[in-house]
Amino acid sequence: MRTALVTGAGAGIGRATALHFAAAGWRVAAFDIDETALGELADLLPESRLLPVPCDAGDEQAVEAAFKEVGEWTEGLDLLVNNAGIADPYCGPFEKFALADWNRWIDAGLTAAFLCSRAAIPLLRKRAPASVVNITSTRAIQSEPDTFAYAAAKGGLAALTHAMAVSLGPDIRVNAVAPGWIETGPWQKQSDRTEPKHSKKAREQHPVGRVGVPDDIVSAIAWLAGDGAGFVTGQQIVVDGGMTKRMIYTA
Ligand SMILES: NC(=O)c1ccc[n+]([C@@H]2O[C@H](COP(=O)([O-])OP(=O)(O)OC[C@H]3O[C@@H](n4cnc5c(N)ncnc54)[C@H](O)[C@@H]3O)[C@@H](O)[C@H]2O)c1
Repeated sequence: MRTALVTGAGAGIGRATALHFAAAGWRVAAFDIDETALGELADLLPESRLLPVPCDAGDEQAVEAAFKEVGEWTEGLDLLVNNAGIADPYCGPFEKFALADWNRWIDAGLTAAFLCSRAAIPLLRKRAPASVVNITSTRAIQSEPDTFAYAAAKGGLAALTHAMAVSLGPDIRVNAVAPGWIETGPWQKQSDRTEPKHSKKAREQHPVGRVGVPDDIVSAIAWLAGDGAGFVTGQQIVVDGGMTKRMIYTA
């Protein structure tokens, strides 16, 4: 049975990814720092399909312990999705930003992908050809003010993607999906769940006429993980409803 590991699987895009692959007949190892969110995911799936592992993916010792559990559960991995990250990009004013806060964004958004990939490589090689998909952001290529730590983490992850691709091929393909604005309110744990309300302006700034949903990202992950993408590695696919292609002129 094909097996995937998804980090940050308790909510949002990670949750939708875990549910998609489980429904498609895969076994899924799910890492999340939030045990409540992870427990709610586990309630939706049979034990034979899901290994929920509470883990801070940006902490070396926690990742080592989590992979010990994964290694006892499966002899190989077909797919690793490095999705964990602090989804809020707003850091505040640059000159007042503390190093500890900088490290929080970098640890969760970039170091986590390095640690989980390093630990997963032996398991991925056992199932070669296997695949890694890193979840970056359109903020790896564009910015709003006061989002520098998030942008740096995602830009670093985009570079890590092509660097890993040339280092780990041909056994392992490594690609990235860069989401734009993805509404995750209904995909949160119950206590945090919200119903989306998007203004006309919010919808219209997307050439496709709407804000994204997690399954828009899952579709790209599933394609990249499949045989149909066997000649694709080192790439970052932007899935943003065309938002970053829209030129803004103020007359
Ligand atoms: N939603 C968007 O609009 C959007 C846009 C671009 C990129 N992204 C990226 O997609 C990924 C998922 O975002 P989302 O919107 O689904 O977020 P989310 O907040 O809905 O879910 C993220 C999950 O990751 C977990 N997590 C956070 N830090 C972790 C850590 N150190 N170790 C393990 N788990 C951790 C959280 O507990 C949560 O369950 C993130 O990397 C985010 O930066 C999201």
